[in-house]
Amino acid sequence: MRFIVADNYSYLSRNAAAELAHYITKRPSCVLGLATGTTPIGLYNELVKTYECGDLSFAQVSTFNLDEYRGLSGDHEQSYRAFMDRHLFDRVDIDKAHTHVPDGANPDAAVVCNSYEAAIEASGGIDVQLLGLGHNGHIGFNEPAADFPRTTHLVRLTQSTIDANSRLFSSKDEVPREAYTMGVGTIMRARAILLVVQGASKANIVRRACFGPVTPNVPASILQFHHNLTVLVDREAAAQC
Ligand code: F6R
Repeated sequence: MRFIVADNYSYLSRNAAAELAHYITKRPSCVLGLATGTTPIGLYNELVKTYECGDLSFAQVSTFNLDEYRGLSGDHEQSYRAFMDRHLFDRVDIDKAHTHVPDGANPDAAVVCNSYEAAIEASGGIDVQLLGLGHNGHIGFNEPAADFPRTTHLVRLTQSTIDANSRLFSSKDEVPREAYTMGVGTIMRARAILLVVQGASKANIVRRACFGPVTPNVPASILQFHHNLTVLVDREAAAQC
């Protein structure tokens, strides 16, 4: 594991963007696994800046997002598809046909999940997977559980995740209760993983995920077994390590 501490969120975002830009430059047709949430917004802004300077092109890049709410179509403002359009896809030269987010509008979980796994495989697999970290140690929507889910699947969100995500909806009742998410196995099959975490409220879970026992109670802890893991945190998130 490479564990990198950035002075603040701005440096963290620049560093993370530089890591991803490096993969794209090395292999312009690379396959990126992407995340939503608050943490990657800064790094998406940095990638857009690099693109605007003419130093980076997404023309041949393919992407697979970690997850999507079940019950929200891509044109719903709070869908993860809309988030990605807003923060990255609509601002760079990516071909939208090469961007993938699980189809939240389709209630048939078997169809959505199997076709997502098949599409990842058909693309040749994910070169680098970007991840954020939930306060309970979740990655994607893989919540603490008795075991590590292997493939893309349907999940019922925990109350703590619903509470955390409700800040983005007008009321808690509007937060979808279910989501499609890559499995922990899907994530671990990526050839490289970049985990980004910011803020004091994540300090405890960063320590448990990166240096504690590997357990499905802390889904991110399995990342310790990945052969090419980079953890990029700000000082506050690193405070207990
Ligand atoms: C997002 C995702 C989640 C977030 C995590 C951290 O696609 O899968 O696992 O990465 O909840 O979110 P933030 O960055 O908002 O703290």
